[in-house]
Amino acid sequence: MKKQVVVYKRLSASLLERLQQRFDVTCFDGVNPDNRTAFETALRTAHGLIGASVRIDAATLAGAENLEIASTISVGYDTFDLDALKQHGIALTHTPGVLTETVADTVFALILATARRVVELAGFVRAGQWHRSIGLELFGIDVHHKTLGCIGMGRIGTAVARRARLGFEMPVIYHDLHPAPAVEEAYGATRLPLDQVLAEADFICVLLPLLPSTERSINAEAFDRMKPSAIFINGSRGRVVDQDALIAALASGKIRGAGLDVFEKEPLPADSPLLGMSNVVALPHIGSATAETREAMAAMAVDNLIAGLEGRKPAHLVDQTVWFQRHGPSDRD
Ligand code: DGY
Repeated sequence: MKKQVVVYKRLSASLLERLQQRFDVTCFDGVNPDNRTAFETALRTAHGLIGASVRIDAATLAGAENLEIASTISVGYDTFDLDALKQHGIALTHTPGVLTETVADTVFALILATARRVVELAGFVRAGQWHRSIGLELFGIDVHHKTLGCIGMGRIGTAVARRARLGFEMPVIYHDLHPAPAVEEAYGATRLPLDQVLAEADFICVLLPLLPSTERSINAEAFDRMKPSAIFINGSRGRVVDQDALIAALASGKIRGAGLDVFEKEPLPADSPLLGMSNVVALPHIGSATAETREAMAAMAVDNLIAGLEGRKPAHLVDQTVWFQRHGPSDRD
């Protein structure tokens, strides 16, 4: 009998076909209050799960006795309750690497858009308000040669640092628990204490994973340390930042502006004060959202799922121990 797979994000026809050739597949185009019960019912007999952007917690997994593997089409896996997965012996895979350059492009788009007021001024032209050359009050600020501060220097931080240093001749400073000697050597980056990065950078880019230790770690105190001319960029997860503190810092002029791809609550509620601020560029969590990259991520997630369900160790396990727990040490490479 074929194993059963639940797909909860739309896949391209070719990727869906790869799954259908091997498994019995049930598809959901996202999960919402209307189909939640059907989704959870399908999970009770599923061996594999693939999708993104849906909270999978202990309650969701209750009764999912056959489930061996969950494959998220994302690099971040904060939508999963890792303890619950571990308890059920369900392996989790994700899609690192393949989206790095695309997310770095998005971060840089936010840097440029906020500094040069691109969205605000495009709106000004569209509204028919361009009657003469703009004056001082609508000027932006330079990006080139300004100091980039990265909070978190992983794969995406490295790709942002490369753009900043080689493309815009920006000095790069960063804070990370671990030194990044390759970035220091290639792009002259300097690792500094967090407070110093916050105080010295012109553009402060948060590129941290959401973990209990990073949740709301960018708080009122952090915004207090920034320069009034600083622009704050978040391309990681909204909950890494205390959003009320960010709003207060923007409203009081404590910082100059913010470019945000992620928010505490997504989609961003229409009544969020952030939407009324002309010094904020807000995007709908599009870090990796290009046609090419999303297809590559989905392909990687499908590969991970197929390998796992066919008993081969997937290439991108979040936690190898859960895999070995089910498949035994003989599979260790
Ligand atoms: C990820 O892969 O975690 C991204 O946030 C999705 O765009």
